[in-house]
Amino acid sequence: QQVEAEVVTFSVPSYACQRRTTLENHNTVLTDALSLLAENAELSDEDGRGVAFRRAAAVLRSLPEPVTDMKQLRGLPCLGDHSLRVIKDILEDGASREFESTKQSERFKALKVLTGIFGVGSRTADRWIREGIHTLQQLRDSGQSLNRAQQAGLEHYDDLNRPLTAAEAEAVGEIVERAVVSVLPGAQITLTGGFRRGKLTGHDVDFLITHPDEGREEGLMSKVVSWLESQGFLLYQKTTRNSYLESKDGPARPPANMDRFERCFSIFKLTMEERRGTEQPENGERNPNPAEDTLSVGARSGSQTDENTPPQSQVPADERRHRVSGEDGGQEEAKPAAHKPWRAVRVDLVVSPISQFAFALLGWTGSKLFERELRRWAGHEKAMSLSSHALYDNTQVNTSQSVFRHFIAALSFCSVKIL
Ligand code: GTP
Ligand code: MN
Ligand code: MN
Repeated sequence: QQVEAEVVTFSVPSYACQRRTTLENHNTVLTDALSLLAENAELSDEDGRGVAFRRAAAVLRSLPEPVTDMKQLRGLPCLGDHSLRVIKDILEDGASREFESTKQSERFKALKVLTGIFGVGSRTADRWIREGIHTLQQLRDSGQSLNRAQQAGLEHYDDLNRPLTAAEAEAVGEIVERAVVSVLPGAQITLTGGFRRGKLTGHDVDFLITHPDEGREEGLMSKVVSWLESQGFLLYQKTTRNSYLESKDGPARPPANMDRFERCFSIFKLTMEERRGTEQPENGERNPNPAEDTLSVGARSGSQTDENTPPQSQVPADERRHRVSGEDGGQEEAKPAAHKPWRAVRVDLVVSPISQFAFALLGWTGSKLFERELRRWAGHEKAMSLSSHALYDNTQVNTSQSVFRHFIAALSFCSVKIL
């Protein structure tokens, strides 16, 4: 007669946006494996499979203690057959063959190296791989024509693949604030993206810019960019003008994963002088008061849930764009960053009218899975459509009042804090 040993079980809500997930992750071995398989799926244009692995990883990341037994997973949401197989292999055999072979595969390594170049997506990388290009040196030697973004990405490859610290994000924020107040006093900038969620490192720094008087923000981006350019802060920039004033189905309709705000994808030149004074020890220890780590301008939420944010010491080995250099990138990246007195930093700037600011802030704070889950939850559970521009009640002719009331109600269901 067998007596089943007692196992600790967990209860987890279905949508990632309903969970409170701390920076602490008790299941890094499992989540690293699932995240790498997610990344491989995304790089192979299998987005559905990618999302399934991301959801499974997020569930494991939200658990209060390590999983040791498959029985503990009974009843947990978002764990499909494929993810369960990977978890089972790791728990029972100590390793997942699929994870190990994917990680070692030449194709995956090449996809990571090539998509680690700013401006290179999975399609381009795939085309190059089919032409026999697997490394940066092979790309340089191939004579492939590169667009402006890719040229900048290749040139600053090492810098752009080295994680940014919160201190560097703060230094960038000071520059952006100087730019914004110089060209439009009264305009406000807010840190968004991973650093707003309290992440300790990031691949870029994201900012949302607005002005309290509706309409004053028009034309702001080009002035900010001109100021930054005149001061020598920009190594690269590409500005896309807003399209929310145009017809919804017009030719300017952006891809589904983009919003309609005016934006600037840029690469800053951050000099040592700018970084000095914000420099912090790089030992990976948590700042006991992380609010002091980040920008003082604008609001931030200290308790934002985050499925994408392991502590620095546990950054998954597959963290895209962060770790390619030196690890998989072949010998050509092996040389240490030259002793140049500056580093290149990816910066995203977005301008929103004040009337859409709350939605823009929510939409640009991330993580990507959190945003996706929040929109799925709004649609499926609340019959509402959430975007970075607005929230619509699908069952009613909108009045902005009812929509805003619903918006606040919706947010109180999720562990989102705004402002
Ligand atoms: P790291 O930068 O890798 O540290 O993480 P992150 O979470 O800041 O990622 P990222 O900078 O790529 O994106 C920040 C947030 O902006 C995420 O929630 C994205 O969903 C969102 N985002 C990025 N690009 C776009 C875009 O073109 N449109 C919209 N609407 N959101 C975007
Ligand atoms: Mn970011
Ligand atoms: Mn970004």
